[in-house]
Amino acid sequence: MTSDSFKAIQQQHRILSQQLHHHSYRYHTLDQPEITDAEYDQLFKKLLDIERQHPELITTESPSQRVGSSPLSGFIPADHATPMLSLENAFNESDLRDFDARVKRFLSTTEDLEYLCEPKLDGVAVALTYEQGKLIRGATRGNGITGEDITQNIRTIGAIPLQLQNDYPQQLEVRGEIYMELDAFRKLNLQRREEGGATFANPRNLTAGSLRQLDPKLTASRPLTISCYGIGNISGEMPKTHQQLLESLSRWGFKVNLSIVQTAKNMETVISRYAELQRIRETLPYEIDGMVIKVNSIALQQELGAKSRTPRWAIAAKFPARQEQTILESVRLQVGRTGAVTPVANLRPVTVSGVTVSSASLHNWDEIDRLDVRIGDTVIVERAGDVIPDIVRVVAEKRTGDEKPISEPSFCPACDSILVRETDEVVPRCQNLDCPARLKESLKHFCSREAMDIEGLGDRQIDQLLRLKLVSSIADLYRLRREDLFQFERMGERLADKLLQAIAASKQRPLENFIYALGIRHVGKHLAKVIVHHFNSLEKLAAATTDELLELHEIGPQVSDSLVHFFAAENNRNLLQELHELGIDPQKEERISGDKFQGKIFVFTGSLERFSRKEGTALVEAQGGRASGSVSKKTDYVVAGSEAGSKLTKAEQLGITILSENDFLELIGQG
Ligand code: IVH
Repeated sequence: MTSDSFKAIQQQHRILSQQLHHHSYRYHTLDQPEITDAEYDQLFKKLLDIERQHPELITTESPSQRVGSSPLSGFIPADHATPMLSLENAFNESDLRDFDARVKRFLSTTEDLEYLCEPKLDGVAVALTYEQGKLIRGATRGNGITGEDITQNIRTIGAIPLQLQNDYPQQLEVRGEIYMELDAFRKLNLQRREEGGATFANPRNLTAGSLRQLDPKLTASRPLTISCYGIGNISGEMPKTHQQLLESLSRWGFKVNLSIVQTAKNMETVISRYAELQRIRETLPYEIDGMVIKVNSIALQQELGAKSRTPRWAIAAKFPARQEQTILESVRLQVGRTGAVTPVANLRPVTVSGVTVSSASLHNWDEIDRLDVRIGDTVIVERAGDVIPDIVRVVAEKRTGDEKPISEPSFCPACDSILVRETDEVVPRCQNLDCPARLKESLKHFCSREAMDIEGLGDRQIDQLLRLKLVSSIADLYRLRREDLFQFERMGERLADKLLQAIAASKQRPLENFIYALGIRHVGKHLAKVIVHHFNSLEKLAAATTDELLELHEIGPQVSDSLVHFFAAENNRNLLQELHELGIDPQKEERISGDKFQGKIFVFTGSLERFSRKEGTALVEAQGGRASGSVSKKTDYVVAGSEAGSKLTKAEQLGITILSENDFLELIGQG
């Protein structure tokens, strides 16, 4: 290769890296993406292609390093240049007033002090060291003096900058809290439940567990993020206030919770903010367990200094724990679609931080044994991240002796057939494939949004379908007639037609949705995608042998057994055949088909006759381009139908290429 062409590749690599850093920052830190995920993936693929051919271009700052390096054999200790202190706690307003008085006494002042109120995120504290703007180390807090070096895991977190921006200082150590948003946590737990794995108690535990992985690729697969709240040390000039420090951190590329942080002109204002933050706590997309109050002036912080383990200039005002006592009145048994029978506690209703709780998951009989919980017991319930509350422990002192043990059932509560508990399982299972409870759960799963997405067929409607005996299998959904639906409560002609349309539309769902919808044990949304990517068609998957399945990196013996059994079972084969005859023929979705319009922005305007706006957008996206709703300097093409108005005028003024519908189709190769 000539040095000129290598230079060109080097240049292309640099531009791609910059673009990827920019888009990752827009997505992870600002939450304002400018391009779609598919567009990002395409840029990323290009970068990987270059790096595969020219590994010498890979640096530690390359966006490719976010996917995680090879596994480590252990974590090495990381000393903190400045100790990572912890915070004193306040539990009520009076504790806060005492804190204010202490600070004033120390500073020998009676004047009001300005404070900064920050949310106290419930996650894992980390220290991030940057030299010349490059991330060189990420460490846990440990005992405050020495933590663990988790740099390789830290690098996989999209919201942590690998390279700083703007007027960053040459030396900087930033402190922040790594956490997981509640939605992501719930989704992950749901997925694990579906795939048969153990679930996590709360987002904090999951975050801590994800950061302590020796395989950084595993950390990379967990949707972690960060909120930065301070520094360990900094070269150059120190900002005047903590608020300004946070603004600087944000400017340098860090994620900071600036929209929630507030200054307070005195302690009374802090106290009202404390009450307010407690009220909005439930509406936040992440868990907070209190509010951190800091003296805003950095000069005063320095004057106040620290005691052995805690600074004098800050305090954590904790929120009350989301725990309450109540009585476990009875236990009901739930039958899942795979036949798993799980116990759920019916509780005497109790309000836990503003939400009425009347049931809690007991998970399985091992958990019941571990808690030694009985019917009639007084129990502590806790709401922690997951939608379903947990029973934390039994209040043994309140036992009267009348409590009754919760025994494991021998018969299915829905169909009365005998239950079987395999040696390596924590729950017994109903083996009856026609069990009405299993059918109901299978139907619910089949129709759910992430599966076949049949709008209008929710829990209530499925209950009615079963009660009216209109369906006795998944295939029956596709045999429903208009007049059948009129037997429903409150079902008019329009609604019935809409429902039938939604059922018919589901015939076109992509193959990965269909495979997920079948509810094969251990096959969640993600695995369904992986399987489709590899096998391309239902026929090939159904014919796959254990060995062929095991060739896939993400499939282990449990999943391969489950798939082979599923496709070998006669009733499943019959169901697939019936569905096929009813016109359900799901195909692999063809995604991006080219990159002719890579990075190009199109605007469709006026009334289009040869294709809809949606189809036009899909055509553009299939070629790596993007459609936007408004014309700007960045627009590359405006496709104008008849009666195009102001957008066309603006495009003309800006000198943007204007295409007719025919021009567009020709350009895209469909003219
Ligand atoms: S300031 C010297 N600010 O709470 C200042 N901490 O017990 C020390 N935390 O280990 C920390 N949000 O992990 C500070 N806005 C915030 C915080 C915060 C969460 C955590 C942090 C620390 C613990 C203090």
